[in-house]
Amino acid sequence: MSRMLRQYLETQADQVETVLVTHRTPGRITGGTVGPRLIRFRLDPAPQTRLSAVRGLSEDLAVALKVPSLRIERTNEGIILEFPNPEPRAVTLVNLWPEVEPLPTTTALLGLTDDGAPLLARLSAPEVAHVLVAGTTGSGKTALLRTMAVSLALANRPTDLRLLCLDPKGRAFRALEGAPHLTRPPVVAISEAIETLQSLLRLMEVRDQQGVNHPRIVVFIDEVADLVLQGDERAASERAASGRNQPTSIETLLTRLAQRGREAGIHLVAATQRPSAAVLSGVLRANFPLRLVGKVVSAEDARVAAGRGQTDAHLLSGRGDFLAIGGSAAPIRFQVAYIGEQEAQQELAKQQHTERTSGR
Ligand SMILES: Nc1ncnc2c1ncn2[C@@H]1O[C@H](COP(=O)(O)OP(=O)(O)OP(=O)(O)O)[C@@H](O)[C@H]1O
Ligand SMILES: [Mg+2]
Repeated sequence: MSRMLRQYLETQADQVETVLVTHRTPGRITGGTVGPRLIRFRLDPAPQTRLSAVRGLSEDLAVALKVPSLRIERTNEGIILEFPNPEPRAVTLVNLWPEVEPLPTTTALLGLTDDGAPLLARLSAPEVAHVLVAGTTGSGKTALLRTMAVSLALANRPTDLRLLCLDPKGRAFRALEGAPHLTRPPVVAISEAIETLQSLLRLMEVRDQQGVNHPRIVVFIDEVADLVLQGDERAASERAASGRNQPTSIETLLTRLAQRGREAGIHLVAATQRPSAAVLSGVLRANFPLRLVGKVVSAEDARVAAGRGQTDAHLLSGRGDFLAIGGSAAPIRFQVAYIGEQEAQQELAKQQHTERTSGR
């Protein structure tokens, strides 16, 4: 830690205590953590100090600390005040990789938590199984999908794990071009997307009957809401043309896969700007046990994206600043481990080369 940062932390802690005393809600900063992007102070409130009173002071505290945003959170250790680190460090997949290697099978690297610990998602666990990524434009959803996909491809052999990508925009998964884990090039056209999901559903049923879940198949879907809407439009026009009722909407296909896919070794990782009920039904959303929520625009969007209130996802800073939300546990804030497209291709090529030369 630089001397300047140490000095900064001292001053900020003093500032917090001064603001609290001035407003008759005293408390002391007793410790904290310095993460790559965020500083977290642990506040030990005096017995008469109420959490709601401290929460009410968040704007005053932000002004006193001269920080753009300040989050207040209650945890088991006390009250946490969280604000941006003035000397942020980049969190990258390449830097983090040596710390997490070897990753267990079907486990994706997500990033680094505020406490400086790598955050992983084990897809085969029922608490994870399927992942819904939400956040406004620029929050870093596509980058997060890329990190997950690349980490899975680096840590699993193509015979154990396959990747399948659906991407209506057609740009998200260039990093994986040439990876032997891809069963086919990323699917862009809506008709192909429907066929692909239908054949996955058939595979799921066959695997169900045979009790098979290997190789694992991870289906990455960027812009899932767009895909659902495009599917609906297509179904509507086909109905008009043929007069028949076509029941296989993308929504239905995804819901069935999410409901029963895990046992058959099929996992969905889907990203969308706004997982609103109008596009993604409650049933579908309920079948994604893990939510990864980036910056959203409003408190209402935060509630929709997280599936619960009080997460403050609208106060996240964007560009890979995310919350992991699952079950009844407290949300975990983390910075996505970034990897660019070209760098990802290089890493994957390096790994294939090592595998070939080591004769695996
Ligand atoms: N983890 C990260 N670390 C650093 N920079 C990031 C990170 N994630 C995203 N960014 C930056 O933010 C930009 C936008 O990220 P990304 O394209 O993933 O956002 P998005 O949520 O997919 O947006 P959209 O909804 O428009 O597709 C990236 O080009 C990159 O510069
Ligand atoms: Mg995107």
